[in-house]
Amino acid sequence: MSISQLARSISESVTLKLNETAALLREKGEPVIHLGGGEPKSRAPIDAIVSCTAVLNTGEIRYTPPDGIPALKKAIIRYTEEHYRKLVSPDNVIASNGAKQAIMVALYAILEPKDEVVFPAPYWVSYPEMVKLAGGVPVPVTPEDGSFHPRIEEIAEAVGPYTKAIIINSPNNPSGVMYSRDFIAEVVQFCEKKNIWLIMDDTYNRLVFDGKTPVNCYEFVTQPLDSSKLILINCVSKMYAMTGFRIGWAVGNREVIRAMINIQSQQTSGPSAPAQWAAVGALNGVQSSIESLRMTLENNRNVMIERLRAIDGVKVVKPDGTFYCFPDFSAYMRDSNKLANLLLEKVRVVTVPGKEFGMEGHLRLSFCGTVKEITEGIERIQWALDPKAPNELYLGTRKLVRDWL
Ligand SMILES: Cc1ncc(COP(=O)(O)O)c(C=O)c1O
Repeated sequence: MSISQLARSISESVTLKLNETAALLREKGEPVIHLGGGEPKSRAPIDAIVSCTAVLNTGEIRYTPPDGIPALKKAIIRYTEEHYRKLVSPDNVIASNGAKQAIMVALYAILEPKDEVVFPAPYWVSYPEMVKLAGGVPVPVTPEDGSFHPRIEEIAEAVGPYTKAIIINSPNNPSGVMYSRDFIAEVVQFCEKKNIWLIMDDTYNRLVFDGKTPVNCYEFVTQPLDSSKLILINCVSKMYAMTGFRIGWAVGNREVIRAMINIQSQQTSGPSAPAQWAAVGALNGVQSSIESLRMTLENNRNVMIERLRAIDGVKVVKPDGTFYCFPDFSAYMRDSNKLANLLLEKVRVVTVPGKEFGMEGHLRLSFCGTVKEITEGIERIQWALDPKAPNELYLGTRKLVRDWL
């Protein structure tokens, strides 16, 4: 079949594949524990639901401007002022179908064929594929010291004449670490000096633990907004537990935003109108759901880290935010695909292989589920791997005896 070269270069989502397998197993009544998820389990804020149903009840659901309804852009402007102390105008804002589309149209707007985009590993699985879709070449940079903290020298080394942009995601999916203020300052200054684009993906910046505060990239920008090449990305997906609504946005100079709007207008038109109204409700409404989600996640993180540290040989960095951690299981198995499959097959725990995020030997584990799922999931992983764990384990009513170590 004549499937395009571009389509053939885009890999299948391993996460979705694992979800499929897990759903099939669940259908058969298997007691699957999902530690691979990428969304909070709490409910969307009531203000989002009220605002969304109000527009649905009119029965008049129409196209919206391609860059979003004015009420949503206004809410995003207010959000940017409150959380970044940055005044922006409607011309500096585009609302998209999730942070994902905002990043995608940004890449379409800035990349020439074969332009390179540099980002530190571990990275969000979609960056390499999105860069390829936009005709660019992904250039991941793995910190030499094996840490999750990139150094500006390593980033600078990867930047060459074809580099068009750098993508930074902090707090980071999958490691959960938040990059230091110094690093963010350095990367902003570096991009200004080199005149390259900087896409700051702040998707998780409200879900930060231990009293830490997210770093505001605008503090280090020296250029006026409309000459700056910084594009800030955010969304309602994670902080308000509104992944299914598909609303995200970008803030940037008016020229790039204009180009992104043109692309989006041909690609999908404006995001779904009820979803935009839901986002307006969430952004303008009572904000307590974010803090309540943040506190739940911090507690879940503590439980997960404590349990993981009890497994012999597993190295884990305590996440500063998000709802992921990225432990190193290489003492047991370096091939993370094999390991994830083994855990699903033997103990019915879904994890995501580190290879997908650019780091072998690791697994991404989510702590956005319940404490029970976390404790039982990690107990099963420990049982599957750690020779010191007891020999027997109950999966529901089924007794397992370890026989593969
Ligand atoms: C780092 C990062 N950026 C962007 C997104 C996409 O967010 P959205 O669901 O709003 O498209 C995700 C979702 O998992 C993410 O982890």
